[in-house]
Amino acid sequence: MSIQTLRVHTAPEYTVTIGPGLLKECGPRLREAVPLCHMAVVTDSTVAPLYLETVKTSLQEAGYQVSAYIFPAGEAHKNLDTLSSILEFLAEEHLTRTDCVAALGGGVTGDMAGLAAALYLRGIKYVQLPTTLLSAVDSSVGGKTAIDLSAGKNLAGAFLQPAAVLCDTDCLETLPSAVFADGAAEAIKTAVLADPGLFNSLEDGMIPALDPAALIAGCVSYKAGVVERDEKEQGERKLLNLGHTVGHAIEKCSNFTIPHGHAVAAGLAIIARASKRLGWTLEDGINAWTADRICSTLSLTGLPISTEYSAGALAQAALSDKKRAGDSITIVVPRTIGDCVLKKIHVTELEAIIRTGLEV
Ligand code: GLY
Repeated sequence: MSIQTLRVHTAPEYTVTIGPGLLKECGPRLREAVPLCHMAVVTDSTVAPLYLETVKTSLQEAGYQVSAYIFPAGEAHKNLDTLSSILEFLAEEHLTRTDCVAALGGGVTGDMAGLAAALYLRGIKYVQLPTTLLSAVDSSVGGKTAIDLSAGKNLAGAFLQPAAVLCDTDCLETLPSAVFADGAAEAIKTAVLADPGLFNSLEDGMIPALDPAALIAGCVSYKAGVVERDEKEQGERKLLNLGHTVGHAIEKCSNFTIPHGHAVAAGLAIIARASKRLGWTLEDGINAWTADRICSTLSLTGLPISTEYSAGALAQAALSDKKRAGDSITIVVPRTIGDCVLKKIHVTELEAIIRTGLEV
């Protein structure tokens, strides 16, 4: 299988490399983007036994000084306590401004290690080594770093683009099916936003047959374009939040026990049904309403299309969503596959919209 490289034209620019065997070669592959330095690998208790030795060995053989920080796996640990421990670790290890953090893992690791890099010494380099489909197709690219606060998801963060992303598709082979489905939710989101061809394949249950590198490259290439045009989410990048307003509310209501992709899937289904019932979707001409196609694709992929939480609880949770601006919040509405629009609503309208979409 071939290795693909994509360039993200932000400041700084960086390369996303996608293909098999990349973790074993991460040392030499990072040399161009990150001159030899002290590399602090941040990873979690699930990923460390699988890949940490491979990464450390490759980095050391390439000439990097390497240290590693392992935190307990799970979104519940994406908080100020863990962030603070990572920062203390970087200081104890005497990392300097020319050193680098390597985020080895899924979305939680990438977001939190990226934020530690953004804060430490007012900002040092970091690289993303995603090991899940979710981090490969979405969170490792674009420079959003964050931790959760008690009030909600990703409420403290910074924009800092990585120096490089190495996406080893071999890692996807060890993923439990629920974790794979988590990433598939973000791929379905991308397809609904911009790729009717990909949506058709996903709709036909083809995801296991797709070349993972091509799937990831397609999603990253779309996202890279959006991020290049709107790095700080002033406009177009808000579209990438499709399904996320309700999704983040579900994560918060569940005390972060429902994984991100599963929550986004339910959020996407709820906003799609609400859009259909409120007359915001278009007939797509293929004998099915967009909302029905989205919901059946999510179900086929093993993802939820609803939630046990009430419209009131979800709307309450969404009040502290960072997408809120004063008394308004911008939601993303799927009109048809490949055509989504931003809709600014008053916060008081959100509960009724969620209620409209809640019932399956
Ligand atoms: N995950 C959405 C974004 O990066 O903007």
